[in-house]
Amino acid sequence: MLEAILLVGGQGTRLRPVTVNTPKPMVRAAGVPFLAHQIARAAAAGVTHIVMATCYLAEVFEPYFGDGSDFGVSLEYVVEEEPLGTGGAIRNAARRLTGGPDSSVLVFNGDILTGLDIAGLVDAHRAAEADVTLHLVQVEDPRAFGLVPTDSEGRVLAFTEKPQTPEEIITDQINAGCYVFKRSVIDSIPGDRPVSVERETFPGLLAAGAVLHGVTENTYWLDLGKPESFVQASADLVRGVVASPAVPGPRGESLVLPGARVAPDAKLSGGTVVGAGASVGAGAVVTGSILLDGAVIEPDAQVTASLIGDGATVGARTVVDAAVVGDGAVVGADNELRAGARVWCRAELPPKALRFSPDS
Ligand code: GDD
Ligand code: MG
Repeated sequence: MLEAILLVGGQGTRLRPVTVNTPKPMVRAAGVPFLAHQIARAAAAGVTHIVMATCYLAEVFEPYFGDGSDFGVSLEYVVEEEPLGTGGAIRNAARRLTGGPDSSVLVFNGDILTGLDIAGLVDAHRAAEADVTLHLVQVEDPRAFGLVPTDSEGRVLAFTEKPQTPEEIITDQINAGCYVFKRSVIDSIPGDRPVSVERETFPGLLAAGAVLHGVTENTYWLDLGKPESFVQASADLVRGVVASPAVPGPRGESLVLPGARVAPDAKLSGGTVVGAGASVGAGAVVTGSILLDGAVIEPDAQVTASLIGDGATVGARTVVDAAVVGDGAVVGADNELRAGARVWCRAELPPKALRFSPDS
């Protein structure tokens, strides 16, 4: 039996993306709430019991995921009254686990998409007889992450969360947000106050001589902190660049959900999702984008690498590139939105209101 804790709390989850009404973990990537991919991937790796650790918006998860049986797992929810931090949340959720002190417990940050060999990480943890095993990836700019230098055998030498000075940046190897804990280690985390696993537990374990083992696997890995990466994740799931059993359809250049309408000469590519009841007009070109349910793309519009919210409209000939159009917003015809533009929910942009110039 393999058990896991899924961390779905904290500020990042609470703050809805300003342009989409749904809380982030429930925004649909490749047609289903993002968390479905994490649950399905864990189940496929042999996880049978998942405890979802939430502190806000718990009420949105349970109606959708239920007892987990649709995913082949037993799913439970624990709700923190006040956010307990990552370590406190792990400790709190572990109350529901059934394994003994030596059992292996997987822990996932809820805001990453990864192609990690989860079962392989558990095997490595057992082989190393580690207290905690961490999946590590190498990134170009590690500043927004937890830095984790290791020795040649993979033993973790330090853990520096979000380095503040250039001197602290001694590696490009970062915490990828997936761990295997020995159960007894979780039980040693204080249970009566907020604890950060990154700032307190890991440095404390290292100082006490515990064995922290790093597995550097440069597999597919994406942090979904920004809408652009969320859109990218969805497109990669649709195209099969990263595998998820939860994608509701065959892999390909686009995923058109039941009830969507796409004009015969519209072009969909790059892993575009057309949500239920959404429509794409004649001559429109939609590339690597998410059109949420009921979105309307009018004729000859061009949408690239963007998120178009529930029931939002993109007017005829309008260009939307690397932008987010909020739920219910209306972007009139002949506009040009690029490079990080965000249209608020229900906002209305008249025709020919905006063009983009890099002024170069
Ligand atoms: N239940 C609960 N309670 N969950 C929490 C809490 C809490 O108080 N605080 C954070 N979480 C959850 C978040 O929802 C997220 O899924 C995960 O824990 C990590 O928290 P973030 O707030 O997203 O942290 P981060 O992105 O700045 O950094 C973390 O992830 C990086 C990889 O993406 C750290 O683990 C870094 O070390 C890591 O490199
Ligand atoms: Mg995060």
